[in-house]
Amino acid sequence: MLSKVERRIESIKELGILECPRCKGKISVDGRSLKCQSGHTYDFSKKGTVNFVLGYGGENYSREMLEARRKLMRMGLFSGILDSIADAVANSGIAEPVILDAGCGEGTGLEYLDEKLKEKGIEARLIGIDISSGGITIAGRTEKDILFFVADLGSLPFEDHSFDFVINMFTPASYREFRRVLRKSGKVLKVVPEREHLIELREVFGLREYSNAEIVAHMEENMSVVSRERISTTFDAEGHGEELLLMTPMLWGKTEGKSAEAPKSVTVSASLFVLE
Ligand SMILES: C[S@@+](CC[C@H](N)C(=O)[O-])C[C@H]1O[C@@H](n2cnc3c(N)ncnc32)[C@H](O)[C@@H]1O
Ligand SMILES: [Zn+2]
Repeated sequence: MLSKVERRIESIKELGILECPRCKGKISVDGRSLKCQSGHTYDFSKKGTVNFVLGYGGENYSREMLEARRKLMRMGLFSGILDSIADAVANSGIAEPVILDAGCGEGTGLEYLDEKLKEKGIEARLIGIDISSGGITIAGRTEKDILFFVADLGSLPFEDHSFDFVINMFTPASYREFRRVLRKSGKVLKVVPEREHLIELREVFGLREYSNAEIVAHMEENMSVVSRERISTTFDAEGHGEELLLMTPMLWGKTEGKSAEAPKSVTVSASLFVLE
């Protein structure tokens, strides 16, 4: 039986789409490392993840926040959104899509998607990248056949035209890079929060009203909108107040020294844009 690292090395060999973010050279597997033509080397961690952003651990997300987010997502916090993403992939009719989640956090979304797509008979190749090494360390725990890398979405370690879909959920975008790595008929699946998103939490912390106007304007300047779907669900958070107060980066700096009372339920409200 192959170990997890060995399985992930085999997947990388099979895919053959890695490119050195430093020199753009082709990357190949060299024992337990990845090496580009110019000799830049990237080692596998024990979990079979790889860090392509050497010397930078990304935004300093606390383990506590990442674990809280993982727990709530496993309880279904964003399942409505992820179901819509799975439908968008299924509707494309591509039997074996290659999918990148650019800004995958701690990987729970991709794990959920893996199951949903399998249920639909779709054998997808899933790859998650995030600049947060803490997030990728947690993501790498999964036994599923998903590849996770620490990488900057502004300088992706992949060859041109490698993906059928780039998922970009609640995360900044680099449309130039997304277009570069997408196949000709490839699509970006972009999830943007709406005004009501987690509004109960915003109220607890006295935050200003949210508007996605700038994000959407930037998106429309760079891509064509194929479709937009509004997704609204209510998540029953009874008994999980602590995780709720911990999970959202937008509340950073607001939690310290403040013993806020968590809402009993929260609204999840977002738009899924299919872009080309
Ligand atoms: C709010 S979290 C969303 C995570 C996940 N998509 C989800 O919905 O749970 C935003 C993520 O974007 C990542 N991120 C921010 N800038 C990035 C960059 N330049 N490259 C890669 N990831 C980045 C952060 O590390 C963080 O994990
Ligand atoms: Zn290189």
